[in-house]
Amino acid sequence: MSSEYVKFEGMLFPTPFNIKFLKYCRDEFVVKDNDVVLVAYPKSGTNWVIEIISLIRCKGDNTWVQSIPIWDRSPFVETESGQQQLCKEEENGARFYTSHLPTQFFPKSYFHSKAKVIYLMRNPRDAVVSFYHFSKATKFYKSTETFSQMLEMFSQGTVPYGSWFDHVRGWLSFRENENFLILTYEELLQDLRRNVDKICHFLGTKLKEEEVNLVLKNASFSVMKDNKMANYSIISDDLMDHSQGSMMRKGIAGDWKNYFTVAQSEAFDKLFQERMAELDQRLFPWEQC
Ligand code: A3P
Repeated sequence: MSSEYVKFEGMLFPTPFNIKFLKYCRDEFVVKDNDVVLVAYPKSGTNWVIEIISLIRCKGDNTWVQSIPIWDRSPFVETESGQQQLCKEEENGARFYTSHLPTQFFPKSYFHSKAKVIYLMRNPRDAVVSFYHFSKATKFYKSTETFSQMLEMFSQGTVPYGSWFDHVRGWLSFRENENFLILTYEELLQDLRRNVDKICHFLGTKLKEEEVNLVLKNASFSVMKDNKMANYSIISDDLMDHSQGSMMRKGIAGDWKNYFTVAQSEAFDKLFQERMAELDQRLFPWEQC
C-alpha cells in the first residue's frame, strides 16, 4: 500500500498531511509552559512512550488507555486533527502531545517556553527495519519492494521527516536544557522501571510502588498488543491493510541483524561515524554493544 508524499520546504511528510497545518504548527501554534511534548523520529517506540505517560498520568489505572485511542490521548501537533484537539484542551492546562518533527519544523514558540520535551531515540538500524514493515501496511507511508531500497532512502534521508541523523543532531542540541529529557528505546527495554521513575521525576509525579507496578504491567508489549486503543487495529482499512502488518510487530532490539547484509552494516557504521562522531557516543547505548 502506498501513496504520494507531501513536500514542504524540501522535506517529505506522510500523505494525509497538509502544508497549511505544517505552517501553522511551526509559525503560530502556541506552546505553553506547562505542556509536555513527546518527540521522536518515526518508529522509535513513540506509541510505547505515549502509553507509559498516559498510564503515569492515571497512576497506572488502565481505564483511560483502554477506552480512548492513543492518538487522541496524545495528539500529533503537526496534524490538523491534533491542532484542533489541542486548541480545545487549552483551557484545561497540562496538555500532553506528540511530534515526529525535526527542530526546524517544530513550533517556534517552544524555543521561548518552559515546556517539557521528552526526546526518544532508537537505534536507527532497528527504526528502519520497523519502518520497512510498517510502510507495507499503512497507506500514509510508501513501501519499497526490497529492504535494500528502504535502507538506501533512509540513509539518504529521503523518507518522511527526513534524515534520522539530522533529526537526532537537531534535538540533541537541547540536551543541556533542564526541561529536556532523553530516553532510548533500548534502555526502556533493558530497565523499564528505572525509566518510569526517571519520567515520573521529570514530570514531577510521585507514584506509589503498586502504581508503578501497574504502569509496568499495562505498558508491556503483550498488554499493549491486545489493547485495541493502542495497537492501531481500529484504524480503518482505507488507511491500513491489517493483513500486511501491525504497529506492535516484534518489540525487540537488534532485529536489524536479520536484515542488514555485512556490507550494508559496514556502510551504515561508517555513515553513523561520519554523521555523529563529534557527539558523546554514550548518548547512543546501542552503539556500545
Ligand atoms: P518493531 O516494529 O521493531 O516491533 P512507533 O510507535 O514510533 O511507531 O514505534 C513502533 C515500534 O515500537 C515497533 O517496533 C513496536 O513493536 C514497538 N513497540 C510498541 N510498543 C512497545 C512495547 N510496549 N514494548 C516494546 N516495543 C514496543
